[in-house]
Amino acid sequence: MGRLKKSIPRKRQKPCLSGEFGADGPTTAASCRSLGSVPLAVRGARSYISPLGEVPEWSNGAVSKTVVRFAYRGFESLPLRQLPQGLRTRAGDLRHGHDGLEHLVLDGTLASHEIGRAMTTQKAVVVRAPGGLDKIEMRDIPDPGQPGQGQIRVALHASSLNFHDLLVAKGGIPADDGRILMADAAGTVEAVGDGVTEFEVGDNVVSTFFPQWLDGRPFNKVGDFRGTPGDGIDGYATTHAVRSATDFTLAPRGWTHAEAATITTAGLTAWRALITDGGLKAGASVLVLGTGGVSIAALQIAKAMGASVIATSSSNEKLARLRELGADHVINYRESPEWGREVLTLTGGQGVDHVIEVGGPGTLAQSIKAVRVGGHIALIGILTGRQGEVPTMILMAKQARLQGLIVGNRREQQDYVVALEQTGIRPIIDRSFPLEELADAFRFQESGGHFGKIAIEW
Ligand SMILES: NC(=O)c1ccc[n+]([C@@H]2O[C@H](COP(=O)([O-])OP(=O)(O)OC[C@H]3O[C@@H](n4cnc5c(N)ncnc54)[C@H](OP(=O)(O)O)[C@@H]3O)[C@@H](O)[C@H]2O)c1
Repeated sequence: MGRLKKSIPRKRQKPCLSGEFGADGPTTAASCRSLGSVPLAVRGARSYISPLGEVPEWSNGAVSKTVVRFAYRGFESLPLRQLPQGLRTRAGDLRHGHDGLEHLVLDGTLASHEIGRAMTTQKAVVVRAPGGLDKIEMRDIPDPGQPGQGQIRVALHASSLNFHDLLVAKGGIPADDGRILMADAAGTVEAVGDGVTEFEVGDNVVSTFFPQWLDGRPFNKVGDFRGTPGDGIDGYATTHAVRSATDFTLAPRGWTHAEAATITTAGLTAWRALITDGGLKAGASVLVLGTGGVSIAALQIAKAMGASVIATSSSNEKLARLRELGADHVINYRESPEWGREVLTLTGGQGVDHVIEVGGPGTLAQSIKAVRVGGHIALIGILTGRQGEVPTMILMAKQARLQGLIVGNRREQQDYVVALEQTGIRPIIDRSFPLEELADAFRFQESGGHFGKIAIEW
């Protein structure tokens, strides 16, 4: 509101005409009442901020809290850059100005200036408690408005599915009723708030998994998902987001939004496992399990870094695709339940330097068998369950490092983006669904038929 007082000279403020601004929005004629120094008699108005500013808070059905914009006459003296384009339209029209704000047209001539948040809604896909794919629905939610200090407004265009999103959607991880789903997001910066220097309008960006973890080692607040979009806080299955600028990084140049969205969770996890935690070196050997998003990203990173890769799958058709992506050896883990021994054979009895362990209790024993003495197992996933036995003695004898991890920090994401641009890696997207078919996308993910990532685009 400070901006309002500064940018609108008081002496020029005049009340709007009856019918120009109503209780149901600026295009209705219902209740533009006394707009001088008397509070508006607007249904649901919660506050009246300034006698001359006339900015009540708006409550109207799906729009739970939005500041009403108000229009003034006689603003011809405002600098031209603040004026919306093409204003000569019908009185009552809303126009998007090139300043990124919305304006109300009075009298078919110049007469408006943004002083509050846009009174519009947007679509979001939420899950109702207690969760379940049949509890996923699309809703209208308030438009998040314009960015404040240190924030950016992003027009979101894509997300990608992760096992974690599926757990939230199905209620396996309980979330608040009406939680907006999805951790991954990519889109274009629409507006930047004061103090933001890292991004410009038009930049393509990708969200981070832990908005509170910018750099350095993990700390207590990233030991769970309370700060993670689509779980502890609202996610990105919606059209616009206004968040701290540090909740995003630049996306790789030339990538589609769907491709960029794969970075947030699956891509960064694979990067951290192999590079930050694993210290991967050219010539090292890597074992990746299955053909999900994390494992395929790890395969691509490992190959780009000059490592050899052994990959597993339950499907011979997928094994052929793994070969095409550069896997040096492949194993069907269904046909060879003792695949750990096969890995030893393929590595001359040595075992691999790194294991991308996404299976959890059902696969860990084989992974421990497959790792070399002094090797590294990145404990990433729980595809086979949440707990189970660990062959402790063999792990000890292998003197292997079993490193648990959850995704990574913003700095690592920035490093990963640079590496992606440099190496030319492009993510493998099996299939893309529109936002309104998110539940079907989860059903497809559950079927296990995918290879790599499943995208959502809008
Ligand atoms: N810690 C983290 O930061 C982090 C980040 C991302 C994901 N994760 C976890 O990592 C796991 C994988 O995630 P994702 O998003 O890549 O999942 P996803 O894309 O849904 O991967 C599913 C694939 O995993 C493979 N798979 C299933 N059971 C398997 C088994 N017993 N052995 C080997 N492969 C098996 C299957 O490949 P085939 O069809 O080829 O058999 C399946 O298609 C999940 O548990 C997820 O929660 C953890």
